[in-house]
Amino acid sequence: MQAKLLMVLAITLASLIGCSGKSSDTGSVLSNEPSVAFVKTQDGSPLEIKVDLFDTPAAKKFSATGKNSYIGNADAITQGKKLFQMYSCTQCHGGDAQGQTGPSLHGPDFHYAKNATNKGMFETIWNGTNGGMGAKGKGLMDPTDATNGLTPDNVLQIQAWIRSHNDKLTGNE
Ligand code: HEC
Repeated sequence: MQAKLLMVLAITLASLIGCSGKSSDTGSVLSNEPSVAFVKTQDGSPLEIKVDLFDTPAAKKFSATGKNSYIGNADAITQGKKLFQMYSCTQCHGGDAQGQTGPSLHGPDFHYAKNATNKGMFETIWNGTNGGMGAKGKGLMDPTDATNGLTPDNVLQIQAWIRSHNDKLTGNE
């Protein structure tokens, strides 16, 4: 009797979850719905990032789980290094992210402890800090225009490169 009740409950739950995964107006799939609640490094307030910008399998997975599937991926690491140069991160953090006017990014200790996680570092890179780090690097791109400059996928590749400097910390723990 109890087992039957449990089963009914499980089925009801499953169908409920199934429904919430569908978005009626866009028809988008569950994997495209952000379930990670991003916050600003500045003050912990909500950081809105347009769902559409998470436009690759890795970016979608990240927005759903906070995991960076590029960690340890040789191609992504190579690409991330290029992006780090292209977006002038090198100017402040040094060619190998070893630190210059900006801090070293190798870890395992960070100025902002949350940067040990993928989500935390993503938020810092995306929206900057109060202490001299501009959104997406600096004023090369308009930080208020979410489609300008680095994409979420780009940031994940940069993070894969940054993490490749330190085997004590992958950011995917
Ligand atoms: C104009 C100089 C400048 C540029 C360009 C810049 N940063 Fe920074 N960055 C800083 C400074 C300064 C800090 C320390 C900020 C603080 O303490 O609030 C920082 C902090 C960080 C942190 C957090 C470090 C910690 O210990 O918590 C990360 C991650 C980071 N930067 C990544 C990047 C990436 C990626 C780029 C390129 C897209 C970039 N930065 C471009 C100056 C810069």
